[in-house]
Amino acid sequence: MPVLNGSTAIVTGGGRGLGLAMARALAECGASIGLLDILPDISETAEVLARDTGVATAGVVADVRNAAAVESAVDALQQQLGTADILITSAGITMWGESTEVTPEDWQRVLDINLNGTFFAAQSFSRRLLQENRPGSIIFISSMSGRIVNVPQFQASYNSSKAAVSMLAKSLAVEWAPSGIRVNALEPGYTLSDMTAQFMDANPDLAAQWTAMIPMQRMGEPSDLVGAVTYLASSESAYLTGQSIVIDGGYTAI
Ligand SMILES: NC(=O)c1ccc[n+]([C@@H]2O[C@H](COP(=O)([O-])OP(=O)(O)OC[C@H]3O[C@@H](n4cnc5c(N)ncnc54)[C@H](O)[C@@H]3O)[C@@H](O)[C@H]2O)c1
Repeated sequence: MPVLNGSTAIVTGGGRGLGLAMARALAECGASIGLLDILPDISETAEVLARDTGVATAGVVADVRNAAAVESAVDALQQQLGTADILITSAGITMWGESTEVTPEDWQRVLDINLNGTFFAAQSFSRRLLQENRPGSIIFISSMSGRIVNVPQFQASYNSSKAAVSMLAKSLAVEWAPSGIRVNALEPGYTLSDMTAQFMDANPDLAAQWTAMIPMQRMGEPSDLVGAVTYLASSESAYLTGQSIVIDGGYTAI
């Protein structure tokens, strides 16, 4: 595991699921952790993480759809933990439905959280580093759905939002490369979390259908992202920017 002592990471969507698993991994490498989530018990989640790992943590409630709220939350985290030099954007949702039936509100909600929220977090994070003339690493949690179309469910808004997130990583990587801020994306395949559990509980056949399409014949675990996220966060990946790493058990290889 790389050593991240002296670093501070902000994790949006860090209240549960993949975000919390990645926050824990960075904490175990020694980074201080700021969790930003819409979940009201985010401070308690941060306290548990501090107790378990021994690093400094803080939690702030904010909705990533609101740029001003994100800016205030990053400000609050900066006051408690210092300026962050690692950002993971894991806040995201998916909504399923036939595209002719999707309401404008639902379409907008997915794009607002997944794409706009990612952008607002990157803006607030990078403004501070650029002001202080310091390097940093941003890791967007995109999805393999940005490059393939999942079946049997229909999720055009999600797929489109994630394709945009991966392109946003490339765009910001080029823009901020001269300043030493690297921007990469992780594109997980089907991974066990509250997000996937809600659909699998409602449709018991789904896990078997999905698994049949994965060459490694299992869904991912949050721990399957740990190696890549700690690598991208650390100086071990100092020359790597503007890339997406797909972690999908081989799904997109066939
Ligand atoms: N689980 C998978 O199979 C999978 C696969 C590929 C990509 N992803 C992506 O990984 C990320 C995490 O997904 P997960 O599976 O852990 O889901 P999850 O639902 O368990 O966690 C998402 C987190 O985001 C937070 N969040 C949602 N809306 C928010 C908002 N408006 N403002 C702030 N926080 C908000 C939630 O409260 C939650 O803590 C998402 O971006 C998702 O698209 C997941």
